[in-house]
Amino acid sequence: MAKPSGLWYLRRMNLPTARLSDAELLARMQSFHWWHSIPLRPGLTTFGGKTEAILAQEEEAFLGPFDLTGRSVVDIGAWNGAFSFAAKRRGAARVLATDSYIWNHPVWRGREAFELARDELGLEIEAKMIDPPDITEKLGLFDVVMFLGVFYHLYDPLDVMARLRRITRQMLLVETHQDLLGTAQPGMVFYPSDILNQDATNWWGPNPALMLSLLLQLGFTRIFYRDHPTLGRARGVYAAFTPEVEDSLVRGFDSNWLDLDVPGAIEGLLTP
Ligand SMILES: C[S@@+](CC[C@H](N)C(=O)[O-])C[C@H]1O[C@@H](n2cnc3c(N)ncnc32)[C@H](O)[C@@H]1O
Repeated sequence: MAKPSGLWYLRRMNLPTARLSDAELLARMQSFHWWHSIPLRPGLTTFGGKTEAILAQEEEAFLGPFDLTGRSVVDIGAWNGAFSFAAKRRGAARVLATDSYIWNHPVWRGREAFELARDELGLEIEAKMIDPPDITEKLGLFDVVMFLGVFYHLYDPLDVMARLRRITRQMLLVETHQDLLGTAQPGMVFYPSDILNQDATNWWGPNPALMLSLLLQLGFTRIFYRDHPTLGRARGVYAAFTPEVEDSLVRGFDSNWLDLDVPGAIEGLLTP
């Protein structure tokens, strides 16, 4: 296994580490662009585009129904790591954060920012630089695979979903931008150039029927859905279970969640 970097590794080796002063930490925080607003110390929260309040709502919506105690979790496209940190704090035994695009980005320098946050929080989280299209079984099997906000950034998301199926032991959790919300036929919109949000990394907008068919096609046997907690149906959250899922993984779904495997479920999600 590759040697983990950062303060976390030194802490695990029981080697002394110098704690940054508040001023030093603030200066390090200011040297990065952030996506997640993560409180590191009282009065010192990273300056993310996603606010702490939105992240709290997302964490509860995405992870609230599940008991992660003792599970292995991989966070694909972790960026600054807010959901990796959440999984660890919710009791996961092993958490692996992966990313590539934003971690390698010369301006965003996502990996350095992730490592600063992880080390400051003192959470034992592994990190691996890997692009989703390169994921294979070599990454290992994980009880829970988190794929949050990444699907629509991929040129070939169907291939990546098949790859993720092969590393999922119990549940794949997908959060994605959506489109074609008025049609019950499985479909995805293709966005050439930067026409979606002026972001050339946005390629696809699937509808719920597409996500359901795809997840069933990949061999997931139960699929639950909810709208995004703050953005509504413009983004969807899918919890897809393998036949091997343990009952204890699911604490219970509240009324925001819908079992997609019942007649009329997709029709019920159609919006004019
Ligand atoms: C919207 S962010 C989501 C971050 C985090 N998972 C969340 O939900 O807040 C998109 C993530 O997808 C990753 N990603 C993977 N492949 C990508 C690609 N081809 N283009 C752009 N981003 C990509 C980025 O590095 C980034 O971490």
